[in-house]
Amino acid sequence: MTLREFLATMRHRWMTIAAATLVVLAATAAATLSIPPTYTASSRMFFSAEAPANDETGESGGVYVLTPTDLTTYIEVLGSPQVVAAIRDSIGLDPGVGFTVRAATAGTSSILDITATAGSAETAAAVANEAGPQLAAVALEFSPLLANNGQTVSATFISEASPPGRPSSPDVGRNLALGLLFGLVIGVGLAYVRHSLDTRVRDESDIADLSDRPVLAALPFDKGSLERPLVMESAPYSPHAEEFRRLRANLLFVDVATASHSVVVTSALPSEGKTTTAVNLAIAMADAGSRVLLVDADLRNPSVAKTMGLDGEQGLTTVLIGRATFVEVAQKWKDTSLWVLPAGQVPPNPSELLGSTAMERTFAELTEHFDYVLVDSPPVIPVIDALILNKLTGATLLVVSVDRIRKRFLAHALKALQTAGAHVSGFALNMVPVSGPNSYYGYGYGYHPYGSSPDGAAEVPPRKRRDVVREPQPVPEPTATEGQLDGTPQWVELPTRSRR
Ligand SMILES: Nc1ncnc2c1ncn2[C@@H]1O[C@H](COP(=O)(O)OP(=O)(O)OP(=O)(O)O)[C@@H](O)[C@H]1O
Ligand SMILES: [Mg+2]
Repeated sequence: MTLREFLATMRHRWMTIAAATLVVLAATAAATLSIPPTYTASSRMFFSAEAPANDETGESGGVYVLTPTDLTTYIEVLGSPQVVAAIRDSIGLDPGVGFTVRAATAGTSSILDITATAGSAETAAAVANEAGPQLAAVALEFSPLLANNGQTVSATFISEASPPGRPSSPDVGRNLALGLLFGLVIGVGLAYVRHSLDTRVRDESDIADLSDRPVLAALPFDKGSLERPLVMESAPYSPHAEEFRRLRANLLFVDVATASHSVVVTSALPSEGKTTTAVNLAIAMADAGSRVLLVDADLRNPSVAKTMGLDGEQGLTTVLIGRATFVEVAQKWKDTSLWVLPAGQVPPNPSELLGSTAMERTFAELTEHFDYVLVDSPPVIPVIDALILNKLTGATLLVVSVDRIRKRFLAHALKALQTAGAHVSGFALNMVPVSGPNSYYGYGYGYHPYGSSPDGAAEVPPRKRRDVVREPQPVPEPTATEGQLDGTPQWVELPTRSRR
C-alpha cells in the first residue's frame, strides 16, 4: 500500500478513527476523573548543629555544619513512624488523613529539599513545613556523636512551602493528550484492519485489483432514480447526465479498439443498475446523432419498456419466434435517432432463445442498420444469458454498484466472462456516493441530482475527482457521422409507435 493509498484509506475510514479516538479519550477522561487528586508542596531547609555555651565564660559554643552522612541518615529517618507521628501531632492531623514526605540533599551542602504529598493543598504544605523541625528534634537520637558533645540540631527555613493551587496528580492535560494519541493509534489500526477485511467494491482501485480494463464512468447515487430513471431527459444538465455523456465518449473510444459497435450491458448480480445505465446511455448516444438501437435481451426480467414507459407486449421474442418483423415491433424514442426493441413476452427458455440461430440472424441484421446496438441483459452470475449475448455483440460493459457488491462476486463474474472468451470493454461504477469520505464528488462539485437549466449547468464548477479516478479521456464528442459502420449507412424507416 502506497502512502497515498494509505491516506485515502484513512480518509475513507475517518469515522472509525474518530469513534476509536473518542472512546479512548472518554475512557481516559473518566479514569482521570475517578482518581482522587493529590497535592504536592516543597520546602527547603538548612540543617546545622549548635554546641552548648561555655558554662564558665558564657561564650557561645558555635554553629557546625552537618556531615553528609548525618544528612543521609536524616533522609532515611524522615519516613519513620516516629517522625511521621510527630509531624501528624504537631499539625493536628486526624489519623485517617494520609500523607507522604520525603527529602533529598541539595548538592553536598547541609540543605534538604523536603517534599510532601497529601489529599489537600493545605495538608501538603503543612507537612512540608513541619517535617524539617520535627526531623531536627529527633536528629540527636540518630547522631550519637552530636549527642555526646551536647550539641543540638536546628532546621532553618530557606524557603517555606505554600499550598499549591493545582493538584500534582492526576495530570489531566497530559492524560488527555496521551488518550488522544493512543485513541488515534488504535483508530488508525482499526481502520486498517477494517480496510483489509472490507470485501465490497468501493472505488476504482478495487476494480484495478481485479481487472486491467478501464473504469469508463462513475455514475453517482441518485435517490430520485426510481421515480425518474431517465435522467438524460429529466435532468439533462445534472452531473448524473454528464457522467452518462462521459460514459458514451469513453465507450466510443474503447469501441475504436473493438470495432464491435454493439455492447451488452450487464453486471455480476441483479439490481446493479444495468437497465438504468443502458437506457440513459442509449439516449446519450442518440443525443450525439448516432443511430442507436436499444435491445432488451433480459428475457427473464425485462424492464426497458417499463423504464421508458413503452408498450412491452411485443419485442425481441416476438421477432425470434417469427410472429412479427423487427420493423413491426421496434419503437422509435420520441424525436430522436434511438430505437427500442423491448423484450416481448417472457419465454420459458430464455438462454436457448438467445443462443438460437434466429437470434444470431436477427442480431446480425439489426447491427447493419444502426451505428450502435446496446443490449440490456440479465446479470452474469445467476444465468449465462449475458455470456451468450457477448458472443453476438463482441463487447461488454460491466455495471458495478459501488459499496454494495462484494469483490468476490465481481471476481467470479469476471472469471465467468473470461472463461467464455467475453471481451469486457470497461466498467461503469454505479451508485457512487455523492457525499461523504467515499465520494468521488468532492467539495465544490455542486451536485444537483435534478439539475436546473442550461444556464445553471454552465455555472457548475469543474469537478474534483478522487485521485484514484482517471482523468476523463481526451475523446472528442461523437458527431453524427462518428462510429458509422463501413459503407454508406442505411437508415431504416421504422414505424413510430405511440407511447403509453
Ligand atoms: N445511480 C443510481 N442511483 C440510485 N439508484 C439507482 C441508480 N441506478 C439504478 N438505481 C436503482 O437501482 C434499482 C435497480 O436498477 P436497474 O433496474 O437499472 O438494475 P438492473 O441491474 O437492471 O436490475 P435487474 O438485474 O433486476 O435487471 C432501481 O430501483 C434503480 O432506480
Ligand atoms: Mg434490468
